[in-house]
Amino acid sequence: MTALEKINAPPTRLGGTALYDWDYLVQDDRAHRLIYTDPAIFEAEMTNIFGGTWTYLAHESEIPNDNDFITRRLGLRPLVIVRDSNGKIRALYNRCTHRGTTLCRWDKGNTKSFQCPYHGWNFLNTGKLRGVPWPEGYAEDMRDPKYNIAQVPRVESYRGFIFATLNMDALPLIEHLGPIAKIIDEWLDRNPGGKVVVCEANRFRYKGNWKLAYDNSCDGYHVAYSHRSLLETENRFAGENAKGMAYYRNSPDTQPMYMRYTGHGNHFKDKRPNLEKRPGGLWALESAHPGMEHYEAEFIRRYGDRAFALLDLAGSEPVNINVFPNFSLLGNHIQVFEPVGVEETNAIWYGTMIVDDGSVPTDAVTDINALRMRTQEGFPNFGEVDDIANFEQIQRGLIAPEDEWVYMNRGFGIPDRIKTHDDGTITAPATDEAFMREHFKEWKRLMKARPNLAIQREP
Ligand code: FES
Ligand SMILES: [Fe+2]
Repeated sequence: MTALEKINAPPTRLGGTALYDWDYLVQDDRAHRLIYTDPAIFEAEMTNIFGGTWTYLAHESEIPNDNDFITRRLGLRPLVIVRDSNGKIRALYNRCTHRGTTLCRWDKGNTKSFQCPYHGWNFLNTGKLRGVPWPEGYAEDMRDPKYNIAQVPRVESYRGFIFATLNMDALPLIEHLGPIAKIIDEWLDRNPGGKVVVCEANRFRYKGNWKLAYDNSCDGYHVAYSHRSLLETENRFAGENAKGMAYYRNSPDTQPMYMRYTGHGNHFKDKRPNLEKRPGGLWALESAHPGMEHYEAEFIRRYGDRAFALLDLAGSEPVNINVFPNFSLLGNHIQVFEPVGVEETNAIWYGTMIVDDGSVPTDAVTDINALRMRTQEGFPNFGEVDDIANFEQIQRGLIAPEDEWVYMNRGFGIPDRIKTHDDGTITAPATDEAFMREHFKEWKRLMKARPNLAIQREP
């Protein structure tokens, strides 16, 4: 019996050895501390969540050319994401089929083949074993497909975002994304050519469970308190409530911003209704960054009436678009959560650039991307550190075994506060924990399931 079967074994099978009652551990308005602290539950998540549902891996712009590769992980599984010599995107297990060592030890690069550093087996970037040193030493036919690199059987992109799952029964990616696909469209379509390319990243690692980050991804309740110093810094030269997320001060639930749950664990915090709808509305909200005044004056000089619409392309889009379990679009970032262990997680903020599609003057594209680097340094440096401090302190608090529950009951049980719409999505005021209650229903569904996981190899 695998660890997962033991955790999940129903009473009628396998001698009734189920270790966990998922309905007890995750209830309507609270979750048990064990789901954040128990190594066996974490191990089960690496199969049932990071394997059982679609997980974000990378952006196509990170491997733009044939033979490009980057290394990533699916849960804890080390992967090489390649665009093979025929242009096909694959997620290869970064594991030599001989004795299991890490095959590719570079973060990224371009190669038609991978040679294992241990004994020199050589693999094409399709995963096929190309040759072994001194083959006459093998009685067996080394062309047997079992020696080809294992790969993730289902890899699909949505408008450049590459997701993967091992679950042969998972819905097609587009159906899985459902209504959040349209929200991703809106995030992309404000950019020239309807696309962005990924540049480098701010990388954080915190001592806490990965779910603490996802639980926070749509949380509008903490902003005024956890990010107080950020709000004060942003508004120091601009007066009260003018910059950044200052609209979370005072009475955030009466603001036009809201949260929307779109199904399958995915949710959206929409702060765009708080903006003034005019060219420059987004730019006006941006807090102070080095060089802003210079670029603003220069854009007005160069582009006249068009300057502020162009500057908006450097402004941080006020959204949090979250795809369960590990992906967020916020501001102009792609944020990815990578579990490292039950109490350790990477939180990586990839910056994005706009592309020159001819619709924006070329020198403006360069300058907008220079400005985006500044605007994208702001939140990771001054905001994410606040969030990570919370995650680590929660993990510390959850050590106490007798104090068992984490509450997510804000907005729960108040008539008419939460609305279900015709398309099945749910909206609630910005500080509600409805998003968390909903993504935990998906978590529980996946943890109870027996996913049909598979790997494949080239024939
Ligand atoms: S482990 Fe890769 S060639 Fe031996
Ligand atoms: Fe935060």
